[in-house]
Amino acid sequence: MTTLTPILTKNWDEADSFTRAGYERGGGYQAVRTALGMNPDDIIQAVKDSGLRGRGGAGFPTGMKWGFIPQGDGKPHYLVVNADESEPGTCKDIPLMMANPHALVEGVIITSFAIRANHAFIYVRGEVLHVIRRLQAAIAEAYEAGYLGANILGSGYDLELTLHTGAGAYICGEETALLDSLEGYRGQPRLKPPFPAVAGLYAAPTVINNVESIASVPSIIGNGAEWFASMGTEKSKGFGIFSLSGHVTRPGQYEAPLGITLRELLEMAGGMRNGKRLKFWTPGGSSTPIFTEEHLDVPLDFESVGAAGSMLGTRALQIFDESTCVVRAVLRWTEFYAHESCGKCTPCREGTYWLKQVLARLEKGQGTEEDLGTITDIADNILGRSFCALGDGATSPITSSVQYFRDEYLKHFEIGGCPFDPAASTLWA
Ligand code: NAI
Ligand code: SF4
Repeated sequence: MTTLTPILTKNWDEADSFTRAGYERGGGYQAVRTALGMNPDDIIQAVKDSGLRGRGGAGFPTGMKWGFIPQGDGKPHYLVVNADESEPGTCKDIPLMMANPHALVEGVIITSFAIRANHAFIYVRGEVLHVIRRLQAAIAEAYEAGYLGANILGSGYDLELTLHTGAGAYICGEETALLDSLEGYRGQPRLKPPFPAVAGLYAAPTVINNVESIASVPSIIGNGAEWFASMGTEKSKGFGIFSLSGHVTRPGQYEAPLGITLRELLEMAGGMRNGKRLKFWTPGGSSTPIFTEEHLDVPLDFESVGAAGSMLGTRALQIFDESTCVVRAVLRWTEFYAHESCGKCTPCREGTYWLKQVLARLEKGQGTEEDLGTITDIADNILGRSFCALGDGATSPITSSVQYFRDEYLKHFEIGGCPFDPAASTLWA
């Protein structure tokens, strides 16, 4: 039985966890002292050795990404933290920034020092005013204590940290749209390559990492790469925050080694709510193909989830019980993608709109078997033909739900309505 590994979440229950004093009491800001005495290249090597992979969803090796930044070029480099968490079901970075903002600030300092950046940015969702205020207070405290600004802790290293708020567009979580938005333009994805590591913010080499990735860095420097690599699986090292939501007895954030299974997490979370049966779930937010009961024992690491036909993504485990209409859930997600499509490319802009229209008809029981073919055909024409990952992600719930629940789609037009009583499903209450 895998157990929890509270590291980033260890002080969340303490009343002052978000203050500098509370963070320092638990050993906070010790790793930055160690890091400032190290050669920046050795910090990058330590993160490579730890095996840390991006916690924003894609799982790209973090140390490798840092290693792409050209060194000794004498030009500005930037660190940008992607705090625009918006993937449906994903709720790990926001509580992390609320309860433990100094872990992020400390991670920002160490990472910026490693990549030789003197200016870092945190791009946070505009709607989360409580998080913005919390981060502003933490950054101010860090400046007061000499962790930010000129000559940090007498090391000769200077770093400015700017908090920038977005305006609530899901697409601005896509790293290059985020850069456009940060530069003051309308947020739309840029063509890659060049990757941001080569030409990012203001066309300068830029590391963009997720909040949880950066907040994990102090623990790696403080405890060593081997400590981090001793957790998780062979290729998916370390720990991560798993967010359980939906029809589960105790929803919330569970920090555990990668490779834990949903069965184990559900046991820790008190099982399914009201003793109902699991019907389907997302391993990593709605942009990842859904799983069913048969996937309860799939280890939640990048490789195993991929081999089972989905993606680990953001570890947003949205749990749906037998009272849920899968067509309705998929329609709801598709409405979200159609609304959030930035409109830059035709397959996603037009395709998500039509998916929404046809799914709405199917859900009301007014569709035909041909409509089922139409939604899979539209999804086929979006997947791999869209400009960014949003379009691809929008197809995941459709194709996977048709794969596992084709009969439920058919049932809708057989009976001319939804076979589920929405009033009986607590999800939509
Ligand atoms: P990606 O695989 O294209 O890139 C991942 C990272 O690696 C990026 O930072 C990219 O710049 C870097 N990279 C990849 N190849 C590179 C190369 N050859 N040279 C230099 N750098 C390279 O994935 P993407 O599009 O950035 O993210 C997609 C993921 O985002 C999805 O898997 C999804 O799970 C996640 N996501 C997360 C959300 C959230 O709220 N946290 C919202 C929506 C999606
Ligand atoms: Fe915009 Fe969608 Fe195209 Fe991405 S896939 S660029 S969100 S229209």
